Amino acid sequence: MTERIYFYPIWLRIWHGINALGIIVLIFSGIRLQYSDLNVLGMGFGQAVSLHNIFGILVSVNYLLFVFGNIFTSNKKYYRIKPKGLIKRIKKQAWFYTSGLFKGEEQPFPLSEKRKFNPLQKYSYIIVMYLFMPILIITGIALLFPELIIEKVYSFSGIFLTAFFHAGIGFLVSIFLVVHLYVASIGKSPLDNFRSIFNGYHDVESKKK
Ligand code: HEM
Repeated sequence: MTERIYFYPIWLRIWHGINALGIIVLIFSGIRLQYSDLNVLGMGFGQAVSLHNIFGILVSVNYLLFVFGNIFTSNKKYYRIKPKGLIKRIKKQAWFYTSGLFKGEEQPFPLSEKRKFNPLQKYSYIIVMYLFMPILIITGIALLFPELIIEKVYSFSGIFLTAFFHAGIGFLVSIFLVVHLYVASIGKSPLDNFRSIFNGYHDVESKKK
């Protein structure tokens, strides 16, 4: 029997849509900023600076929607860290993605009202949303107002270190996005999860008869 679960409330879908669009613009304008003297990606350098600043502010303000949404709604229950057996669960899911999936095995952690993400999804979302995004936003604000940055950390320039962390974490978020799209395409059909993040509902196999 199939059960429809309302996994993605409207505020979450609005946050996700703005975030997805914003991060894509930030990745492309960010790549353009790395090559100041080359005319790449059909964008002038000045245009890339403006786009990166505007979408950086948009994604940062939108991030507050994710944080407050998760503080004030039941969506937070899907982000609770459960250390007991964590490594075992992650290994089990990784084994499924690298082997079981191709042999037609069942998902080791089927989705339900209580479990929206498998362990690998859950902990990658926690790392990206609660570690990478804050670092990106804080270093981004600092680069927008470089007078805030301390001049030297040991022998390193403060601006250099801030830009290094900003670009490095930006690179990791770009890799996350590629993996995220691949993993999201694994479902009952390749478009199943993409439909869910648009309409809010996810169909799961239920044991209820
Ligand atoms: C074109 C870009 C993107 C597409 C098509 C996309 C697609 C999806 C889909 C289909 C889901 C629901 C299924 C699942 O949980 O895997 C989802 C959830 C999620 N995505 Fe994305 N995504 C995109 C960009 C991003 C980016 C850039 C981030 C973060 C930097 C992100 C973070 C998340 C998070 C945290 C969730 C779970 C939200 C929740 O239910 O609490 N996504 N995405």
